[in-house]
Amino acid sequence: MEIRAPLSLVRPLTEKSRFLGAIARKPIDRPPVWLMRQAGRYLPQYMEVKKQYTFLEMCRLPEIAAEISIQPYAILGVDAIIVFNDILIPLEQLGLTVDFNEQGPVVTPAPRHERDIRALRRRPFDESPPVCDSIAIIHRQVGEHTPVLGFAGAPFTLACYLVEGVTSKNLRYIKELVYARPDLLERILETLTETVIEYLRLQIQAGADAVQIFDTWAGELGRTEYRRFAMPWQKRVIEAIQSEGTPVILYVKGSSPFLEEMKHTGASVLSVDWRIPLSEVTAQVGADTVLQGNLDPTALYAPPDVVSRRTRDLLDDCGRRTGHIFNLGHGVLPQTPVESVQALVDTVKAYEYGSL
Ligand code: CP3
Repeated sequence: MEIRAPLSLVRPLTEKSRFLGAIARKPIDRPPVWLMRQAGRYLPQYMEVKKQYTFLEMCRLPEIAAEISIQPYAILGVDAIIVFNDILIPLEQLGLTVDFNEQGPVVTPAPRHERDIRALRRRPFDESPPVCDSIAIIHRQVGEHTPVLGFAGAPFTLACYLVEGVTSKNLRYIKELVYARPDLLERILETLTETVIEYLRLQIQAGADAVQIFDTWAGELGRTEYRRFAMPWQKRVIEAIQSEGTPVILYVKGSSPFLEEMKHTGASVLSVDWRIPLSEVTAQVGADTVLQGNLDPTALYAPPDVVSRRTRDLLDDCGRRTGHIFNLGHGVLPQTPVESVQALVDTVKAYEYGSL
């Protein structure tokens, strides 16, 4: 009879082997934990750096981006480092200007009309855009045993920013394309998909151990539209990257109605929002689908003891012994108390799956 000891009993896990172990559904000691938007305004150390640079400078100066990326790892002890950058930066490859002001991002000009959309052309990336140098510097500083994550926006979410030009409440212009000119929208998605694949490949060459694609706005679509304008393009990115051996985490905000579709993409990990408990997500997608999530980011406004209890409840409810990466259901919000984020991280790290 074969006796399979948990990996942790054989040798201590590194952060990377635990992270990749969770994705491969190998026995591990506890779930790995990291948080979307873990580097950001809730951290006083980030605000210190931000006094000296604009947001775009912080993304474009690899030494600075690396320093900010490492902050949550050094301060809070998360198990993975996501490179500091923004999903909108690669829109510059389409000849657009991306800027960030007090209200958020601004993309100019926002091509909405047929002639402007047909004129969109993708320019190849520099062999090493700044994000690649940031990834290489992070790995040099923290070593090979800590996972570094690259990322990109998913084609539909990038198309939203491209067409709307700003963060839009009702997605007026993109929805107009969805219903009135689906052919033009598909043209945009085609160009963005190629851009995203190339951008992720460069990040992987630079050392990213896994990548996440963010489809923040896909949850605003009806099912028929999701199946045409979100899912196939996610799938193309995922297949291109995973066929070369790197796991892709697919995040959708408003994921609940689309779990089947998310599963259909074949993503190594489905990152779901907080609206459905993970036990129910598992009931829908099966225990063999790896999940990431899904504490409500606003739960972190509660005091640390409440956050700890919520975190433990979530882990108990999840009922898995591997195949789960702890995260929020969306990014850390501004003004989140650092003590509450710390309580979350400490609670996950103290959790033990127990003997298998
Ligand atoms: O997760 C991380 O720590 C890595 C860094 C990261 C940022 N943006 C830095 C950032 C990541 C993964 C993103 C992804 C991103 N950017 C998404 C997808 C995830 C999501 O949150 O839905 C989207 C939609 C964007 C576009 C974007 N960038 C918006 C709408 C805004 C303004 C709103 C806001 O939160 O400020 C940004 C700016 C931005 N990107 C900030 C950070 C830290 C805030 C800049 C600041 O310090 O003022």
